[in-house]
Amino acid sequence: MNSVIIDCDPGLDDAVALLAAFGASEIDVLAITTVAGNVKGPQTAVNARIIREAAGLGDTLPVCAGAPRPLLRDPVTAEDFHGSTGLGNLPFPDPQIELSKTHAVNMIVQTCQTAQDASITLVVTGPMTNVALALTMAPNIARGLKEIILMGGADTEGGNITSFAEFNVFADPHAAAIVFNSGIPIRCLSLDVTHFVRATAERVAQVRAVGTVPASIAGDLLEASCKLEFSAKGDRDAPLHDPTTILAVTKPDLFTGRTTRVEVITEPGEQFGRTIPHFDPDGPVLWYEQADDAGAFDELCRLLGGVA
Ligand code: RIB
Ligand code: CA
Repeated sequence: MNSVIIDCDPGLDDAVALLAAFGASEIDVLAITTVAGNVKGPQTAVNARIIREAAGLGDTLPVCAGAPRPLLRDPVTAEDFHGSTGLGNLPFPDPQIELSKTHAVNMIVQTCQTAQDASITLVVTGPMTNVALALTMAPNIARGLKEIILMGGADTEGGNITSFAEFNVFADPHAAAIVFNSGIPIRCLSLDVTHFVRATAERVAQVRAVGTVPASIAGDLLEASCKLEFSAKGDRDAPLHDPTTILAVTKPDLFTGRTTRVEVITEPGEQFGRTIPHFDPDGPVLWYEQADDAGAFDELCRLLGGVA
């Protein structure tokens, strides 16, 4: 069993990742922590509550709001790819179950400080602001962390928000630098991988054919993602960015890569937010480079089927 905190900025693909995690028998989601990113901070917390209730879950799974802005840089959002609501403007009912009173950073710190050694997996699918704040506030959380699995960065693929930078890192590069340099074991799903795991029309149909409520919702989210990707970039098939982090928990052999140290460019200029992997057999980051994309969708469907 993997004890997991999911730190996210829902976000259409974050929402699919949450639904997949909820369906995985191998994952015990301890908390959802949210951060400003795709849309403004308060809205990412509302969206996490929406998905929690859409999946039929209640306040036994806390949703904790976190940093409302990046550490240093001006805030940026990504409504072009997620719609003004952050969930593709899909008609979800307003959430009824309250937000936790515990701040996201405190939830991460308290959970890791009271956990057994190396027992917590921190999945991060948005800007790394909360994680950087937790590591700065309480470096001893490293003891309780097994690993961080994050979606972020780009090398061979180039950026998706500038020609060099991927959104999660671009939105808070100073936080990303703190996390990548923390020495905590990290598995990184960058654009180098997620750009090769795409939601084609056939795969969206494959998801819908699973026939469960989470799969139907995921189908709607993926369809909305594809429409927005097309209007924003002319691509019909949206990359499956954030759900790959959950697949890396339940079926790691879908991915291959090399260990590395990761440099983050934080100086102002055209490369601001760029990630540069320096491959190193002793590096703390496993930088995934390839994925079995068909296998990834099979695994996503297994998890959304809730029979995982
Ligand atoms: O670059 C892709 C990442 O940015 C994903 O996490 C997506 O949700 C956005 O946050
Ligand atoms: Ca995200």
